[in-house]
Amino acid sequence: MAILEKHKHLEKNATLLLVASLLVVTIGGIVEIAPLFYLQNTIEKVDGVRPYTPLELTGRDIYIREGCYVCHSQMIRPMRDEVERYGHYSLAAESMYDHPFQWGSKRTGPDLARVGGRYSDEWHVAHLTDPQSVVPESVMPKYGFLTDRMIEPEHIVARLETDALVGVPYTSEMIEAAKEDFKAQASPDADTEGLLARYPKANVANFDAQPGISEMDALVAYLQVLGTMVDFSTFEPDPER
Ligand code: HEC
Repeated sequence: MAILEKHKHLEKNATLLLVASLLVVTIGGIVEIAPLFYLQNTIEKVDGVRPYTPLELTGRDIYIREGCYVCHSQMIRPMRDEVERYGHYSLAAESMYDHPFQWGSKRTGPDLARVGGRYSDEWHVAHLTDPQSVVPESVMPKYGFLTDRMIEPEHIVARLETDALVGVPYTSEMIEAAKEDFKAQASPDADTEGLLARYPKANVANFDAQPGISEMDALVAYLQVLGTMVDFSTFEPDPER
């Protein structure tokens, strides 16, 4: 019982307890975090992950502005129920160009990490305009006003440059073509060769089926790319993990 006697001192002396706790937490923290800086595979290299197109990036900013993350997470955990419902668990590499990331923890609605391609563009527009028309018991707010808010790519060059500054590999060619690419993705009749060369597999469509480019177009372009960059039919996890 001698050790318990000694422990009494620690428990009764607030300063000592504070210092000792800090010490324990620091050691624990270092043990957990330090190896991540040295492990090669903390972020596994994965084929297919590319920076967002200018239109997708704009949609992502609208997603953040509207607070969609308040009800939706974007991270599928490696647990069976999640994988069966949403698809392959999320890989760190899939959000490596996300600034800020949208992992979240609140799920009033479903996880959206792999919602891309699951529904048609029309479904998304109908659902965002009036969620209850598609899912009667939904508590999701209506976002129909996005269809009436037209957008011009006036800030898109600066936007790409900002992401490039924090490490997203936007090339000078991508930045130069940003305005053009922004418009091309929402115009199926436009010349999209350059866009598709710069951003493989980008969805090109008049997403909201209305003339002009609206915030709805951008948001749906973003939703449709979520979780679709990596081809999971050929993906093999790193065997060392
Ligand atoms: C108040 C909480 C709330 C907010 C805010 C919210 N949603 Fe939802 N969302 C839900 C709920 C609940 C559902 C499930 C019922 C439904 O489909 O409407 C849902 C469903 C969805 C779905 C269908 C997912 C699937 O796999 O079926 C999409 C896509 C979606 N939301 C996108 C958005 C976007 C984009 C925004 C922001 C513009 C947003 N949500 C804001 C609650 C919310």
